[in-house]
Amino acid sequence: MLNVFSVKIKNYRNLKEQTIYPESGINLIYGDNAQGKTNLLEAIWISTGGRSFRGSRDTNLITLSKKNSEVFLKFFGRKREQKIKTKLSQERREMFLNSVTQNPLSKIVGTFCAAVFSPNHLYLIRGGPMERRRFLDTAICQIKPFYANLLIKYKHTLIQRNALLKNTVQYKKSPEVLEVWDDKLVEYSTLIRKQRAEYIDILQKTIEKTYKGVLKSHEKLSFVYSFKVAKESKLEEDAIKDEIEKELKNSRDEDILKGFTQKGPHRDDFEVLMNKKSIKFFGSQGQQRSVVLSIKIAESLILGELTGERPVVLLDDVMSELDISRQKCILNYIQDFQVFITCCDKSSVARFTDANIKFFEIKEGRVFCE
Ligand SMILES: Nc1ncnc2c1ncn2[C@@H]1O[C@H](COP(=O)(O)OP(=O)(O)OP(=O)(O)O)[C@@H](O)[C@H]1O
Ligand SMILES: [Mg+2]
Repeated sequence: MLNVFSVKIKNYRNLKEQTIYPESGINLIYGDNAQGKTNLLEAIWISTGGRSFRGSRDTNLITLSKKNSEVFLKFFGRKREQKIKTKLSQERREMFLNSVTQNPLSKIVGTFCAAVFSPNHLYLIRGGPMERRRFLDTAICQIKPFYANLLIKYKHTLIQRNALLKNTVQYKKSPEVLEVWDDKLVEYSTLIRKQRAEYIDILQKTIEKTYKGVLKSHEKLSFVYSFKVAKESKLEEDAIKDEIEKELKNSRDEDILKGFTQKGPHRDDFEVLMNKKSIKFFGSQGQQRSVVLSIKIAESLILGELTGERPVVLLDDVMSELDISRQKCILNYIQDFQVFITCCDKSSVARFTDANIKFFEIKEGRVFCE
């Protein structure tokens, strides 16, 4: 089980310079609005190597009026104590694992794993395809460290291909260059889509376990990936590759006409269905919330199972939106994780569990431990 010992913060958003020492079980961070609760979770989260879960740029994380920011995390992982330092400046982010610079930054992904739920994640249902792709990619990156690099290579190839498609003079001069980009695109797309299809598959299976508890109904939840393989063997690399080659060939004329690549992993999406109906258009607000939370809990369980180490769970302002039995159910699911929960009302979580809770009050960016 991953376990954070200490978080040292300097010039991060509204947080004062300080060190926090969490417990291995439930850590409850409470306080009024705008005191820094979400900021603290976000500071822990960036040690995963991911971008802000609120979609903020790195420069927005630095305290206004300051030039640099630092988060220093000490945690137990892979059977030993480890350290991750993140330095943010106006120009760049630097990360150090046990004092060694991580270059490229994607090297750090998968070292310190966390699953985060914030009200923002409702975009997973209500938002557009980009949000869902980001969720998939972030989740997979943490399980398969090579995946982050794969995404970079894909993006790079896509940019090159699009540049050629836009430049008709260049294209007419040497149309065979397109083949070169196409070959690479097929290679990377196959690997990306295999990972995404596998993840959606495992998500579906895991959620069948978690969803029941969080929402006490017998409604059936299913996920449909926009990229479909006609053959039985939908997770086989060759079958995926065939489909992608076909897709790319079929849209080539239109790609040339429009000047960009229209189909591929950069346009993928998945739909969440409840009893075969889109939860986005038919689900109630409460159902949508519970489904997103189930997805996030499933993400933690998958991460724990596949990496052999349970991730840290960050729950931002989630309890206040759920009824008592759902709250109990969530606390039950996460009892074997180190958890950071934020809320405004201190008693809201403590009422529903016998587990030991470490309380932190946060006021104007300063954290007080009880
Ligand atoms: N770069 C920054 N520098 C200084 N302050 C910042 C920066 N970014 C955000 N803040 C401030 O930090 C404060 C706390 O934000 P945060 O989202 O953590 O509040 P919260 O305790 O989670 O509140 P709520 O209960 O409303 O969710 C906000 O008032 C915000 O304006
Ligand atoms: Mg908040």
